[in-house]
Formats: sequence, structure tokens, C-alpha cells
Amino acid sequence: MKSLKIGRKSFSLFIENTEIQNAVSELARQINEDYKKRSPVFICILKGAVTFFSDLTRKLEIDPKTEFIELSSYRDGEESGKIEVLKDLNKNIKGKDVLIVEDIMDTSRTLNFLVDHLKSKNPKSLRICTLIDKRERRETSLNADYTGFEIAEGFVIGYGMDYNEHGRNLSDIYVLDSKERGETI
Ligand code: IMP
Ligand code: MG
Repeated sequence: MKSLKIGRKSFSLFIENTEIQNAVSELARQINEDYKKRSPVFICILKGAVTFFSDLTRKLEIDPKTEFIELSSYRDGEESGKIEVLKDLNKNIKGKDVLIVEDIMDTSRTLNFLVDHLKSKNPKSLRICTLIDKRERRETSLNADYTGFEIAEGFVIGYGMDYNEHGRNLSDIYVLDSKERGETI
């Protein structure tokens, strides 16, 4: 089993890139079908979803407009849990069919905030595509419309996702070893 260390944390291979590509192809197939008669805008959430977004869009036969948005993470010592828009969209999405592309849904507080933020811009429709749906700590009733993988728990890195900004460049997805999970990430 492939493993790696970042600082004092150990991670083990969890989802290989070939398996990721299969899941992304299947998502692209569904999205092609659902959006073929529309001119959608796909929104990538910086920075974690960049790798997924780039693979997903290259597997599409439709021709979506792309936008990027960056939100502050409440994980970065933000006790109050306040989420803010660090970089907003460049283009108006009023009347557009919008698909949010996210790396991982955990509590879903981030996406809940983003859905409210984007709804205030009056899109025609708003859907969510997430590579990973981590259900254990869900805090809202929000669900993804398109999901690559469902996992019960665990902290994952790679394929765009990070641990303190490390590991985004890995092609495969790794999971923090379970004996270390009790410690604060
Ligand atoms: P949520 O608001 O709790 O759903 O968290 C969503 C954000 O937290 C995601 O966009 C990720 O950036 C980050 N996140 C949640 N779980 C993980 C993980 O296991 N690894 C890396 N980042 C994560
Ligand atoms: Mg994210």
C-alpha cells in the first residue's frame, strides 16, 4: 500500500487516478446528457476543485462557460464559522443554468453559503457537482446533484485537495491514517 508523510501526518493511498478518471467520465456523461440543450455556466470553487474541474470540463462534449470563485475557509482558525467571498464571479449569471463544481462536501456549510450567494444573482437553475460526498458531518439538508464518490469519513488529500496547502499536486487521493484522525487537522 502506497503511503506518504506530510510533516508528522501519515496518509495512505485511497483512490487511484484511474478510478478517479472513471468516475469523472461517468459524471461527464450524465452532465452532457442533462445540459445538452442549454448554454450553462460551470463554476469552479478555488482552489481545491481546480484539478477535478479541469478533468471534468475536458471530458465534456457540451461547451460551458467557465467561472471561478474563491471563498474563505472557516477551517483557517475562523472560530465563528463565518464564510466570505474572497474572489467573486467575473460575469453575470442572471438567467443562466449554473453548475457548481466542488472537490468535497463535508459539513456542507461552504456550499450552503455559496448556494445562497449565487441564488441572489438570479440564475435560471443551480445544481451541484461534487467529486466526493463525505456524509458523516453533514450539517445542512443540502445534497449534490452529481457525486463521484461517497465516503463515510476521513480526511483526504491529493487531486487538488490539501492538508495545510500540501498535497494538491498528487494524482491519486490519499487518506489520513485512522489512528491519527483523533488529532486536530
Ligand atoms: P464543508 O463546508 O464542511 O462542506 O467543507 C468544504 C470544504 O472544506 C471543501 O471545499 C474542502 O476545501 C474542505 N474539506 C473538507 N473535507 C476535506 C478533506 O477531507 N480534505 C481536504 N479538504 C477538505
Ligand atoms: Mg473546497
